[in-house]
Amino acid sequence: MRFTSKLPDVGTTIFTVMSRRAVEENALNIGQGFPDYAIDPRLGESLVAVVGEGRNQYAPMEGTIELREQISDKLFTCYQRRFDPHSEITVTCGATEALYDAIQAVVGPGDEAIIFDPAYDAYEPAVRLAGARCLRIALKPPSFKFDWDEVRRALSPRTRLIIINSPQNPSCSVATREDLDALAACIRDRPITVIADEVYEHVLFDGRRHQSVLMHPELRERSYAVFSFGKTLHATGWRTGYCVAPPELTRELRKVHQFNTFSIVSPLQYAIARYLSAHPDAWQGLAAFFEAKRDLLAGLLRGSGLEPLPAAGTYFQLVDYGSISQEDDMQFADRLIREAKVAVIPLSPFYARPPRMTLVRLCIAKRDETLRTAAERLRAFAKGASQL
Ligand SMILES: Cc1ncc(COP(=O)(O)O)c(C=O)c1O
Repeated sequence: MRFTSKLPDVGTTIFTVMSRRAVEENALNIGQGFPDYAIDPRLGESLVAVVGEGRNQYAPMEGTIELREQISDKLFTCYQRRFDPHSEITVTCGATEALYDAIQAVVGPGDEAIIFDPAYDAYEPAVRLAGARCLRIALKPPSFKFDWDEVRRALSPRTRLIIINSPQNPSCSVATREDLDALAACIRDRPITVIADEVYEHVLFDGRRHQSVLMHPELRERSYAVFSFGKTLHATGWRTGYCVAPPELTRELRKVHQFNTFSIVSPLQYAIARYLSAHPDAWQGLAAFFEAKRDLLAGLLRGSGLEPLPAAGTYFQLVDYGSISQEDDMQFADRLIREAKVAVIPLSPFYARPPRMTLVRLCIAKRDETLRTAAERLRAFAKGASQL
């Protein structure tokens, strides 16, 4: 029997590839985006408690009401608007599932979705599995600013979806209120839905405020906003996210969700709900926490030949190695693993047509000592490379 792949060109994600290489080469992994420090012990205690209390059977399909109410309160605190836990909030298996479900709910064969490169890698395969195709618009380094004229030129009668990600992984750029206004103007009078990937909603630096589609009167009527407790509670392995959308959109999302995962691990939901009810401000210090880490790493690397780019948000930091090497970023990242014993993520896999650039992505969600060790190794490597 001949088996025909539906995604013949999709290989293993760059995150898995680089993490595997890090293990093979015994390198320090500051590439993949996950914290190497502990979660708040009180969150762990909540989980143990709810399991002991027998919260171990299927949760409701849309998520436990306890968690959805906590999410609604949190959204009110963040975005000054009440979202109905019954009809507008759905708990999903990480942001990844919310993205997948929303994409399946919106696009089908013949439709087009616009995404912005460098793009998080989960978007395009989900669009293609729905039978639709992606138009990829490149944001150019070093500013990675949106060009809304280019977006308008890319629109067609087949466009059904635009996915934005702010703060953006991996560029570390953030959308402004003017960007959201421009997006709203682009889709006005067109049958286009927005998916806003806002998993780094709390990680903006230098006094910036996150511009959520949920605060934008026009956009929130037509958007799926996607969030992740993995990022907000430093618990990426808990795989708990959620999607906020108007009732009509939420109904369609749940049609996909109920036959995808049906419902999410119930003890995790009860544990997060209990934790948030006891510590409703648990996420308040995230921006300052990561800003200190960004400043630490960037400060240690500045002047080394691995030059940090300005980072407005996310828990990543881009560095430019152009002054010490003109290798392509895949080769350079592999050499860093072998010679510096530090694993980073090259930027070109995030582009359909990568521009000429010499950038790699580092993750700052690491203990300070991990960041110091990584910086020391990178500085030593760069010094050696610049003397060649
Ligand atoms: C931009 C972006 N979207 C979505 C996700 C996935 O989030 P989750 O781990 O909650 O599925 C990530 C994870 O790194 C991300 O960086």
